[in-house]
Amino acid sequence: MRLASVTSTQEVARDLPIGSVVVADHQTAGRGRLDRRWDAPPGSAMLASFVLDPHPLLSLAAGVAAAEACGANVRLKWPNDLMLRGRKLGGILVEVSGGKAVVGIGINLTSAPPGAARLRLPPDDLLDRLGAELSAWTSAPHSRVLERWRELSVTLGRRVRVELPGHTFEGTAQDIAEDGALVVDGQRVGAGDVIHLRQQGPGARSRAVPRRSARG
Ligand code: BTN
Repeated sequence: MRLASVTSTQEVARDLPIGSVVVADHQTAGRGRLDRRWDAPPGSAMLASFVLDPHPLLSLAAGVAAAEACGANVRLKWPNDLMLRGRKLGGILVEVSGGKAVVGIGINLTSAPPGAARLRLPPDDLLDRLGAELSAWTSAPHSRVLERWRELSVTLGRRVRVELPGHTFEGTAQDIAEDGALVVDGQRVGAGDVIHLRQQGPGARSRAVPRRSARG
């Protein structure tokens, strides 16, 4: 379903059956993670919501799928921010209710907020690729999703600040657990904000990550 203007593609999608896709040129009340707003000028971004079966690793699988759809050089900041050369390119919001999961994906295309990145891809091509990659990665073995997320991660190995409601701490992002939680100095972080504190060593940011399919 393609619409000119909506409050949020998430709002429209949540009333639709599994398998539906809602795409809009503009959102008047686009939502991000942690109750933030997601704003983009009309026609400047890919704004899509996919209605899927719930899945224990859906947030990570959606991140991997979106990174693969965007192409080489796109990486993941925990849990699923899309990053291009150290700048945020897009984000993913997963909302689960009533036996359905709505995966909302926003990717900057023709413009980006200050300090953010944009992707020079035709929106229809990107949408086709997103659909195919989501289908592949949501049906891939969990071990493959975790393995690929680790390969694409720009968070693992970094010093991070974890901001939880009423509690902030710093440490090294060591791994992701089997359920997708980030492990920071041995502590599991399942939600909240993770801020990268300093750059990785030379070469780490530009390291090549070979393209992989969900089948390995
Ligand atoms: C984030 O980085 O905080 C997640 C941003 C998710 C934005 C997308 S745009 C399409 C869908 N509709 C929304 O209202 N939000 C998501």
